[in-house]
Amino acid sequence: MRVLVIGSGAREHALLLALRKDPQVDGLVIAPGNAGTALIADQHQVDITSGDEVAALARRVKADMVVIGPEVPLVLGVADAVRADGIVCFGPTKEAARIEGSKAFAKEIMAAAGVSTAASEIVDNPAYLDRALDRFGLAVGEPAWVVKDDRLAAGKGVVVTPDRAIARAHAARLLESGHPVLLESYLDGPEVSLFCVVDGMTVVPLLAAQDFKRVGDGDTGPNTGGMGAYAPLPWLPEGICAQIVTEIVEPVAAELTRRDCPFQGLLYAGLAITKNGPAVVEFNCRFGDPETQSILALLDSPLGQLLYAAATGELAAFGALRWRDGAAVTVVLAAENYPNHPRLGDVIIGSDADGVLHAGTTRRGDGTVVSSGGRVLSVVGTGTDLCAARSAAYRILESIRLPGGHFRTDIALLAAEGKIHI
Ligand code: GLY
Repeated sequence: MRVLVIGSGAREHALLLALRKDPQVDGLVIAPGNAGTALIADQHQVDITSGDEVAALARRVKADMVVIGPEVPLVLGVADAVRADGIVCFGPTKEAARIEGSKAFAKEIMAAAGVSTAASEIVDNPAYLDRALDRFGLAVGEPAWVVKDDRLAAGKGVVVTPDRAIARAHAARLLESGHPVLLESYLDGPEVSLFCVVDGMTVVPLLAAQDFKRVGDGDTGPNTGGMGAYAPLPWLPEGICAQIVTEIVEPVAAELTRRDCPFQGLLYAGLAITKNGPAVVEFNCRFGDPETQSILALLDSPLGQLLYAAATGELAAFGALRWRDGAAVTVVLAAENYPNHPRLGDVIIGSDADGVLHAGTTRRGDGTVVSSGGRVLSVVGTGTDLCAARSAAYRILESIRLPGGHFRTDIALLAAEGKIHI
């Protein structure tokens, strides 16, 4: 099977590495890729937001399956264009991708499916902002206001703050530029990412993971696309994943099917484990980054065959997934000044080490690898437990040089120390 992967992040690098291990995968192609993926797949430059260009590339390289990584092409309907050309595609239709692309749609689906989620309100008129802020956050005894950009914002459009002035300023900035904001009630409890492979009705969960969205140690500073992740979650009570599947993901998949937009691809449930049980923070329509890097490091089942089964409606017959023992910890090395205006073009030394996945990297004509994005590398350590996996990841990081580069030093630390409680 020849697989074309769409995207350019460490998530796509991880997908390629896992696909390469599948005995039925004998050809890998990527567009647009990065300096690391170019070493393991044929790399092509196309506009990945254009369904026509992606479908044409899939035909040209004779892809048996296209796997779309990022949300933007999915929300724009690139998977529909690929399938319209008769090529198998892992990724939801434009209609189903609204579960991530439109927060209002996601809330409507969750309400219809009876799924627990934060109370919310869309504000699109600055005149109503103050009264809306009075119905959330400290005004109603919650620990913080949660203010979200209602558009796709690569994880950076969210502000969670106990300071009303900061919450108001973020919302006002968005409204001034003509974008609606979503105010949400605060869900108290540790967060879990549960990725589920879905072919319409059948739901197959992967290992639960946790990611770290703030830029600084101790969850300080602004939100980012994700600074690290680990799997599995030793603190998660047994049975919770099964509960999330039966009470949340399956009802949402069934509701989408009922509305004639069945979800086929990776349905990412971002949840808070509150004292009343799991509640949805958000749904995404694709593999998450950087959780994927940790999860796939532990997958023992053939990824190509799994994704192909989902893309062709055969998931029910696939059988139980196999996982390696132990744990995986991913630490993101980010460029100076990320997530604001990252400095690009810095030379990276040591990016070819084992366990290093590329994201914002490019190779110059002289062979030097330089940074070309805010999140530059994902470093993945594995081990018998989280302590060992953390040590492995941070040991690899010590061998890498990126001027101005920064990373969090506390990825998976509380979990490794047994300090996460529900
Ligand atoms: N890990 C966050 C995301 O992929 O959206």
